[in-house]
Amino acid sequence: MSNQEDIVIVSAVRTPFSRFESAMADIPSIDLGVIVMKEALRRVGIKPDEVDDLYYGSCIPAEYALETDVPGRQATLLAGFPAENNSVSLDRACCSSLTALRLGVMSIRAGEARTAMAVGSENMPRTPHLAPGLRSGKRLGHIKLIDCLFELGYKSKGFNSVALDAGEVAVEHGVTREMQDAWAQGSQEKYALAFAAGKIKVGEEIIPVVIPQKKGDPIVIDKDESPRKTTLEALAKLKPIYGSPTVTAGNAPPLSAGASAIIMMTASRAKELGLKPLATIVATVSSATDPRGIATIPAQTIEKALKRAGMTIGQMDLIEINEAFAAMPLVSTKLLAGGDEKVWKQLLDKTNVNGGAIAMGHPVGASAARITMTMAYELARRGGGYGVAAICGGLAQGEAIIIRV
Ligand SMILES: CC(C)(COP(=O)(O)OP(=O)(O)OC[C@H]1O[C@@H](n2cnc3c(N)ncnc32)[C@H](O)[C@@H]1OP(=O)(O)O)[C@@H](O)C(=O)NCCC(=O)NCCS
Repeated sequence: MSNQEDIVIVSAVRTPFSRFESAMADIPSIDLGVIVMKEALRRVGIKPDEVDDLYYGSCIPAEYALETDVPGRQATLLAGFPAENNSVSLDRACCSSLTALRLGVMSIRAGEARTAMAVGSENMPRTPHLAPGLRSGKRLGHIKLIDCLFELGYKSKGFNSVALDAGEVAVEHGVTREMQDAWAQGSQEKYALAFAAGKIKVGEEIIPVVIPQKKGDPIVIDKDESPRKTTLEALAKLKPIYGSPTVTAGNAPPLSAGASAIIMMTASRAKELGLKPLATIVATVSSATDPRGIATIPAQTIEKALKRAGMTIGQMDLIEINEAFAAMPLVSTKLLAGGDEKVWKQLLDKTNVNGGAIAMGHPVGASAARITMTMAYELARRGGGYGVAAICGGLAQGEAIIIRV
C-alpha cells in the first residue's frame, strides 16, 4: 500500500549508450544532459519551473572542462529551466546519478522541494588529453600529454587501478577469470534477448539522440551501440588490462557516452498532478570502504539498504549490480549469499536479468540512474515487486536504492 508521503518516481529516461567511436562522441555531456532533462519533463507534462531542486552527476571533469564548470547549472539553463532554479553539480564517481537521486529524496523529505530531478551525464570518448605545465611555458624538452581515461587516473595519487583491485579481490573470493568471462557472455546474451523482446525501447527507457548533419538527413541513434556477440573461447583469449589478474576488454564495460534522468515527488503530489508513479522509493543509502574493496562495496551497500528498509535480500524480486566489471555482481552476490552456493545461484538468477553495463555500456556518471530505471521498467513488466540496485564508484564508494513497483 502506498502512503501519500512516500516518494515516487514519475519519469525515467536515458539516451542510448554509445560505443567509443560514435557520432555521439562529439556531443558535450552537458548537451546529452539537456536531452534527458527535457524529455523526462515532457513525458509527464511538468514545466521546468516546477522542479525545485535538481542534482546533476558527472564524473569525468576533464570532459566538461571544455565548457568550464558547473555542468548542471549550464544544462538547466540550456534546457529552459528558469534562472531561479536550484541545481547542484556533483561527482561521486560512478555512484553520481544515484547520489543525485538520494539528495533529491532528502530535499523532498526536508520540505525543501516538492519535485526533484536527478540527472547523470557523461561523454567519456570526448575526454581530451591534458597538457599540464604549458601555461607557465616549456623552455626545452618534449611536451607530455596525460590521458586521464587511461586506467581511470587513480594511479597518479598512488592508488591501484580499479581493474587490479577488483580482479585480485575477486580471485580472493573464489571468483575466477572463467566465471567472470561466463558472466560477461551471459550479460551480452541477456541483453540481446531483452532487446529482441522490445524491452530496451524508445518511449520507455530510451530517447533517441538526433544529430543534425551539414548535408542530408540527421544521424539518429536510437539503440545502445556496444552490445556484441561473443563466445567463451573468444573471451578466454583476451589479455587482462591495467595489471589486473582477471579483468579484460570482454568482461569490462566499454567507455561510453550517455545521459539519464529521473523525476521524483511525493505520492500525494503525483496524485494531484494525475501522474501514475513508475515506482515507490523504499530506501536510498550510500557507503564506502577501503579502496581495495571496490568489488565488495555493492554487497555492503545493499545490506545497509535492506537494514534501513527492514527487509531481506530474499524479498527482492530483482537485483541490479552495476557491471563495473563482471567481478562486481559475482563477488557481491556471493557475499550477500553468505557463502551458501544454492542461495548464491538464486541471487545470480535475478541479477541484471536484461544484461548490464558489459553489454549496454557504462557512461560512468549516468549508469546509476540507468540501473534504477532498467529495474523499475522490468518490475512493471512483471506486474510489480521489490528490487534493489547498487553501484560501486571510484575508490570503493557505494550507492543503493530499494524500490517497489
Ligand atoms: C577495456 C578497455 C581498455 C578496452 O578498450 P579498447 O581496446 O578500445 O576496446 P576494444 O573494444 O577495441 O576491445 C579490445 C579488443 O578486445 C576485443 N573484445 C572486446 N570485447 C570482446 C568480447 N566480448 N568478445 C571478444 N572480443 C572482445 C575487441 O575485439 C578488441 O580486439 P582487437 O584488439 O583484436 O580489435 C576499455 O573499454 C576500458 O577501459 N574499459 C573499462 C572502463 C572502466 O574501467 N569503467 C569503469 C569501471 S569502475
